Amino acid sequence: MAVITGAGSGIGRALAKALAAEGCHLALVDIHTQGLEETQRELGQTGRTVTLHMANVTDRDRMQALAAEIHAAHGVIHLLFNNAGITISKAFADSSLGELDRVMAINLGGVINGCYFFLPYLKQAGEGHIVNTSSMAGLLGLPNQATYSASKAAVRSLGETLYAELAVHNIAVTTILPGAIKTNIMKAAVEYGSDAEETKKLEALVMRHGKTPEALARKVIRAVKKNRLRVRVGADAYLLDWLKRLFPVAIHGLFRYAFRRTDAARQGANSQ
Ligand SMILES: NC(=O)c1ccc[n+]([C@@H]2O[C@H](COP(=O)([O-])OP(=O)(O)OC[C@H]3O[C@@H](n4cnc5c(N)ncnc54)[C@H](O)[C@@H]3O)[C@@H](O)[C@H]2O)c1
Repeated sequence: MAVITGAGSGIGRALAKALAAEGCHLALVDIHTQGLEETQRELGQTGRTVTLHMANVTDRDRMQALAAEIHAAHGVIHLLFNNAGITISKAFADSSLGELDRVMAINLGGVINGCYFFLPYLKQAGEGHIVNTSSMAGLLGLPNQATYSASKAAVRSLGETLYAELAVHNIAVTTILPGAIKTNIMKAAVEYGSDAEETKKLEALVMRHGKTPEALARKVIRAVKKNRLRVRVGADAYLLDWLKRLFPVAIHGLFRYAFRRTDAARQGANSQ
């Protein structure tokens, strides 16, 4: 039986389909009911129990109640996918504190809440697996992604700690480090305050070169079966991982140069 947050779109939806194909009962969680209903429609008749739960992963009281609600509905919880997340693509200096905080609260706070409130039920099951969605942005600090990178680095670090600590409870922990994946994340980013023009360009790149969420889900299922600590998805994730290891300081000089150029171009365009 698997719980998936952010199951109303993109990676969460693809994970739901892949887990259903593996024969899992599912509890699908999202802040938007419409997306959840669409995921359920796309799942079709699975012959398994699929329950839908509206929840904001940042809401501690709701997350505590959610864990109890899902346990009551399914009787047992084996797998938890802390996947809900957002990005806002904007320079730190241009961001409001509200924007910076929101990304941390959902991407990191939501994962902590999920791990914390579902842990008693995973322990009770006698065996379990937590899968947290980080990002290649969690491998290093990227420009225009200040708290996105920070939150995803923290999720990666949290996963490493839990991987070591929870084995004594027979609970495995896997962290997903995806590169660009073709989902709605960039559309949502505009709603959350990203610059529409810039984000459109980024989205076009992701849609041209990114991996599908279905390919990611297949790879993640294989990694979960092997109890992997982490799973990188996409050539871009492997490339950034290796560039950061080989050039731990120089790579940030390159980002500084690129940011300065795009910033100068942006200032120029604004002053015309
Ligand atoms: N798409 C990519 O290129 C990419 C790359 C690396 C990591 N990721 C990560 O993958 C995860 C899934 O993103 P996606 O690409 O599928 O995006 P998406 O926008 O398609 O899906 C995200 C889902 O999370 C839900 N959500 C957002 N805030 C929530 C909240 N507070 N509570 C509950 N649900 C909430 C949304 O309603 C949506 O259904 C995120 O953690 C994201 O950071 C995505």
